[in-house]
Amino acid sequence: MLLLDGKAVAAAIRAETAEEVKTLTARIGRKPGLAVILAGDNGPSQTYVRNKERACAEVGIVSETLRLPAHTTQDEILAHIRALNAREDIDGILLQLPLPGHIDSRPCLECIDPAKDVDGFHPVNMGRLLLDMPGLRPCTPAGVMELLKRSNLRPAGKKAVVVGRSNIVGKPLAVMLGAKNAQANATVTLCHSATPDLASICRDADFLFLAMGQPETITGDMLKPGAVVVDVGISVTDNGLRGDADFASLRDRAGAASPVPGGVGPMTIAMLLHNTVQSCTARCLKC
Ligand code: GUN
Repeated sequence: MLLLDGKAVAAAIRAETAEEVKTLTARIGRKPGLAVILAGDNGPSQTYVRNKERACAEVGIVSETLRLPAHTTQDEILAHIRALNAREDIDGILLQLPLPGHIDSRPCLECIDPAKDVDGFHPVNMGRLLLDMPGLRPCTPAGVMELLKRSNLRPAGKKAVVVGRSNIVGKPLAVMLGAKNAQANATVTLCHSATPDLASICRDADFLFLAMGQPETITGDMLKPGAVVVDVGISVTDNGLRGDADFASLRDRAGAASPVPGGVGPMTIAMLLHNTVQSCTARCLKC
């Protein structure tokens, strides 16, 4: 079985991004800037944000994190976003999800300037993805597509099954896989919690993408022999971090699989850095 080594692929992307940042910085006279808003004290979010800060520093992107208390109001978050929208030195704005329960994420995501929406969650960027227009793409599904490409795996003409229909991963990934281009062109089935007989649909997949966030749910007997499995799930369990796949039982059946950790996770952050360079370039050089 081929191991889809997201850690190594992400390191290569970060090295390329660092070169792009160097060139861009020389041209515009400042470094690209990313602002992260972290409201509340969600444990995994604190870790993600620290990892993003470290990755930015490594490639020469200036990052600043607004750490806000859990009782911050929606209006206060909107005011912070509007201030960041207006700043020339900020190219990317990332609102870390989930937000505290009393805040509706939708108006907050919609308040971010689409040109600075490095998460690709704004309705304008989601619409651009659906319509195959250029735009900022959500980092995790973009990272999955890049991991396939750089591992020389092509879903074109194959049956792709996506399990999980979140706005962050499942829905945009299904659109990317079905897009009309040589790196995509898959026939896509999107499964979710109301899908009957999930196992038989998974068994029909040449490419299986797991994004439901239920640890070790998909087992080797649910796979077509030789299938490519990309595991986007990441759950904290008593045994450590686990993906949606029962990795041990896949080994003898899958043709390729991504591990958790070290698979899709590092790719997400690499694509965030890439998106920040893309938005900085578009804002400063193409206007
Ligand atoms: N929470 C979990 N994944 C993500 C992500 O990709 N972006 C943001 N903003 N929040 C998240």
